Amino acid sequence: MSVNEKSSKSATTVNLGIEIAGVRFANPIFVASGTFGYGSEAARFCDISGIGAIVTKSVSWNPRPGNFPRRIVETPSGMLNSIGLANVGVDAFVTEKLPYLAEFDTKIIANIAASSVGEYCSVLEKIEANATGNLVGYEINVSCPNVKDGGLSFGTNVGMVEEVVRALRPLTKKLLAIKLTPNVTSVAPFAQACEDCGADAISLINTVVGMSVDIRTKRPRLSTVTGGLSGPAIRPIAIAKVYEARKATKLPIIGIGGIATASDAMEFFIVGASAVQIGTMNFVHPDASIRVRDELTQLLTSQGCSSMKDVIGTLEVSGEMRSLGW
Ligand SMILES: Cc1cc2nc3c(=O)[nH]c(=O)nc-3n(C[C@H](O)[C@H](O)[C@H](O)COP(=O)(O)O)c2cc1C
Repeated sequence: MSVNEKSSKSATTVNLGIEIAGVRFANPIFVASGTFGYGSEAARFCDISGIGAIVTKSVSWNPRPGNFPRRIVETPSGMLNSIGLANVGVDAFVTEKLPYLAEFDTKIIANIAASSVGEYCSVLEKIEANATGNLVGYEINVSCPNVKDGGLSFGTNVGMVEEVVRALRPLTKKLLAIKLTPNVTSVAPFAQACEDCGADAISLINTVVGMSVDIRTKRPRLSTVTGGLSGPAIRPIAIAKVYEARKATKLPIIGIGGIATASDAMEFFIVGASAVQIGTMNFVHPDASIRVRDELTQLLTSQGCSSMKDVIGTLEVSGEMRSLGW
């Protein structure tokens, strides 16, 4: 078959469907936790049913008001936030938010945050007992402070990540994805720990620690002094973390970080991500995920690809490139 024949055939047959741990998603473009609320905030601006999956705002056992303002600072290529896991709590989540989201023809992944292993388990059990038909799994945010252990986050301690995954795995047969932080020297041992302890997937990355200072007042701009950087600025960091994790584990990877276009998403797919999430871009265009999905169809078509299999994990790194190492 000539190149022209191949691309004209794929123009009508390009299939964006992917599968992660037995769950079939219509397309690999998801929306990231904390950037799409619980769906209702964006419903007026976005065809929610066209999104591959909605990852909900992190939910904890009790409602949380979050941190004091100022909680958001704009930066040249992204934003700094210190929202502090403000959320409605698991009771309101299962009685109000999940039933609302059940009306859409999309998959829902509930993101859970907690400050102890017991809290992670209780929140997951409560959601599991009230799960709606389109709730396909959980994304566990291990980047939150563990109060009992002196305020360090679970996600920076391999032993604690293992403990969380081991405790959660027996509680559900649904997709169990662990969302890892980039704020560690090496993400490989965390990815391996997730695989060893029975997770189904890893999500990479959460925000990168950052800080901004007001030069007039000489004070930090965020009330919490430091916060989480997101948006285009962090994409190269995210790609490098996905690359490192891809070498360390066979688990499916969900890539996150600074995606604004289909080309941005393609970088993640080529490095080995099975799906991606769009975060900060939702604040600019609430329908960013739909735009990227449609652009991706065009991009795959123009490259003569007929399915996501044609791009996922196709990165080529020669031995010579690796040995340069600078
Ligand atoms: C305002 C805001 C709130 C967020 N809240 C959460 C959250 O509750 N749970 C979570 O796991 N990640 C949260 N994140 C992180 C995003 O899900 C995502 O991992 C990160 O922003 C990187 O993607 P992006 O560069 O596309 O925004 C939040 C990000 C932002 C900007």
